[in-house]
Amino acid sequence: MSITKAKVFVTYAIPDKGINMLKERFDVDVYDGEEFLTKEQMLERARYADAIITQLRDPIDKEFIESLESVKIIANYAVGYNNIDVEAATRKGIYVTHTPGVLTEATADIAFALMLAVARRIVEADKFVREGKFVGWKPKLFLGYDLYGKTLGIIGMGRIGQAVARRALGFGMKIIYYNRRRLPEDIEKQYNAQYMDLDVLIETADYISIHTPLTKETYHLITAERIARMKPNAILINTARGPVIDEKALYEALKERKIAGAGFDVYENEPQLTPGLEKLDNVVLLPHIGSATYETRDKMSEMVAINVIHALEGRIPPNLVPE
Ligand code: DGY
Repeated sequence: MSITKAKVFVTYAIPDKGINMLKERFDVDVYDGEEFLTKEQMLERARYADAIITQLRDPIDKEFIESLESVKIIANYAVGYNNIDVEAATRKGIYVTHTPGVLTEATADIAFALMLAVARRIVEADKFVREGKFVGWKPKLFLGYDLYGKTLGIIGMGRIGQAVARRALGFGMKIIYYNRRRLPEDIEKQYNAQYMDLDVLIETADYISIHTPLTKETYHLITAERIARMKPNAILINTARGPVIDEKALYEALKERKIAGAGFDVYENEPQLTPGLEKLDNVVLLPHIGSATYETRDKMSEMVAINVIHALEGRIPPNLVPE
């Protein structure tokens, strides 16, 4: 007697580690094409699956969810899950999971890499050398800003925000932070971090790093007015989600040199940039690679596989998204 295996649909190929775990148990359909699938193509393959593994760029909205016939779990291959209508999934009794924890350090590294790259003009300087323009040491060649002794304002002091704070301590920075809820005193002490009202932080910090999830409350948290109140030497780093910042307003401020610079790993209308951003020399632009290390992406794939295995074997997956 042949037993039909449960079907798992993966909307875009993820590292083998997790896929192999799934293949041992289930019938796994992995999309591995050059182009992204359209929503309709995705739905065609997802409709009768038992589980789907989704990416942060997949719009898993109400309409998509309501068309699913047999899916028991949507396992997002990301810590952020703003691409999924969790309410609609919950109403349909579908689990939604994400990958918290495993990408904390890699993402904090990218935030720090951006901070250093913008402050010390690493990308510009590299280009200068490659173009054969380096003719010898000069006292004013590529002057940038110190990190040492400066104030870092962390917006969103969860796992990734705290990992950034740990790095900042090693660089001799002073840490201030804003969070939905103030952290317990012992954690504040650990980072020598001072809690501040968001507007005070914005006016005080030399560097600002964003680490909040994208929610209704954090959409355009960094408004034109807040950007206008930043210090002229301020450097703004975003490795969280693009729409947390009013990107058009930030572009204008950067173009007019109202603030010193910005480092982007994420964009408001990803993968599109605000036109002109790519022409500015006071920005560093990355293609959303915060978690892109071999080690981290392997762990993320393992985590989505574990979540799917739990759901399809009748257990509660360990990494349900928070309510
Ligand atoms: C996430 O996981 O949400 C990151 O943006 C990509 O790994």
